[in-house]
Amino acid sequence: RWNSYPYVFPLSLGFPASADHVHAIILVKITLPQQAAGPLCLQRDQASDFASTCGQFGINLESHGLTVLQVFFGRSMSEERLMQSANYVRTELPVRIAHRLRDLQALPYIVVTQEGVAKVYELYWSAFEKFRRYPSITNLQDNERFCEFLREILDEHGSVIPNLSLGLSLSSPYLPPDTLDLFMHRMLVSRISRRVLTQHHLALSDTYMGKKSLRYTDSEPRVGIIYTGLDVRRSIEKCAKLLKRGPLASESDEIENGTMPEVVIEGNLDTKFSYIREHLEYIVFELLKNSMRATRLKHRPSSSVPPITATIALGTNDIGIRISDQGGGLLTVQNHKQIKSPSDLFSFSHVRNPQRMEDSRLGTLRSASSRKEGVWATVHEQVESWQQTSRKDDPGQKAGVGSHAQLGIGLPMSNIFATYFGGSLDIVSLDGWGTDAYVRLPKLGTNLEAVNF
Ligand code: COI
Repeated sequence: RWNSYPYVFPLSLGFPASADHVHAIILVKITLPQQAAGPLCLQRDQASDFASTCGQFGINLESHGLTVLQVFFGRSMSEERLMQSANYVRTELPVRIAHRLRDLQALPYIVVTQEGVAKVYELYWSAFEKFRRYPSITNLQDNERFCEFLREILDEHGSVIPNLSLGLSLSSPYLPPDTLDLFMHRMLVSRISRRVLTQHHLALSDTYMGKKSLRYTDSEPRVGIIYTGLDVRRSIEKCAKLLKRGPLASESDEIENGTMPEVVIEGNLDTKFSYIREHLEYIVFELLKNSMRATRLKHRPSSSVPPITATIALGTNDIGIRISDQGGGLLTVQNHKQIKSPSDLFSFSHVRNPQRMEDSRLGTLRSASSRKEGVWATVHEQVESWQQTSRKDDPGQKAGVGSHAQLGIGLPMSNIFATYFGGSLDIVSLDGWGTDAYVRLPKLGTNLEAVNF
């Protein structure tokens, strides 16, 4: 039966198993119609060799990093270059997704059965199938259709992060912290990379076709999604303003959670550099949000709270931003009292960050998993979603955090955004006084993707 029923064996067992176990599991698996009907089926003798099977379908598992050329050739775009960009995205994405499918398949069985993980696997599997069948793009009409297709997939994948985060939090007791964090790191970096490629191509296409982009403003020069003269001070001001317009703004919240601190910006105020604005603003927004929350909580009910200071430093190859607050530091902030070291805030393991397994957090992740919104939203979209979210649907979020908060992914994601092009994020806590966050971002054009996918 097995020989006549080609089947991809989707999971490694993750524990020593007897032949009986293996047969039992195989029998269970091959009765799943969805899997058995899947078009990319491995023959029994190939089951361990995913790469060679992908090769049979013309998919080379070697991934190609984003190059300076791909990023900046948009400066002088032509139809031919746009086709090159489309076909690069078309062929590169399934390769990167295939690697992540392989990572998911290699997880222990108990992890794959956790809520959320199967959903992510299905989304990736389906995207992989769609990409590998997608025909070559040869003209502008093809590209229009391809862009539509990309937009649909971006939308479909909106809930990947909460699902993954939920599944892996629930799996935390079964995975050593390093294994769990490494897995999450690879999944998240790879996801950023895929979305960067996709959104860059969409933005290049819109510009070439003369379409006004809803997502990117043209008040600053830009090639695709890279702003070539990104004004750091302006982004910090924007994030501070948006945070005050969010749910933090209401009067009852002010009474309950303390006065909103001002954000004072100092240093090299004219700094401009080449970078993806969404990445910079995501990081700044998350750090300011944490600082505002800590400062308000520490100083309530006083109506005079110390300001948060954002310092901008212009280096030769990179720019630095330090965000300093007087919110009491990590160990005195109520929510972080179980954290031993600031870097544990980036961890997805409950061993390092006990909040990962708290019921309230799992509950928030569950409700976010069923929504479509993603953590890739621009800060504008985040604030809009705050404003649309009814408070009663979002219990426990009154402490100055929005619909994305309490998911516990803001800091890990900021860390991944900062390191994606080779930068860094360090958090230093002066317990009893405040927290300093140091962000270093390379000026794009010198560094590109820091990792292989
Ligand atoms: C993701 O958002 O996880 C993706 O992989 C999107 C990409 C396939 C367009």
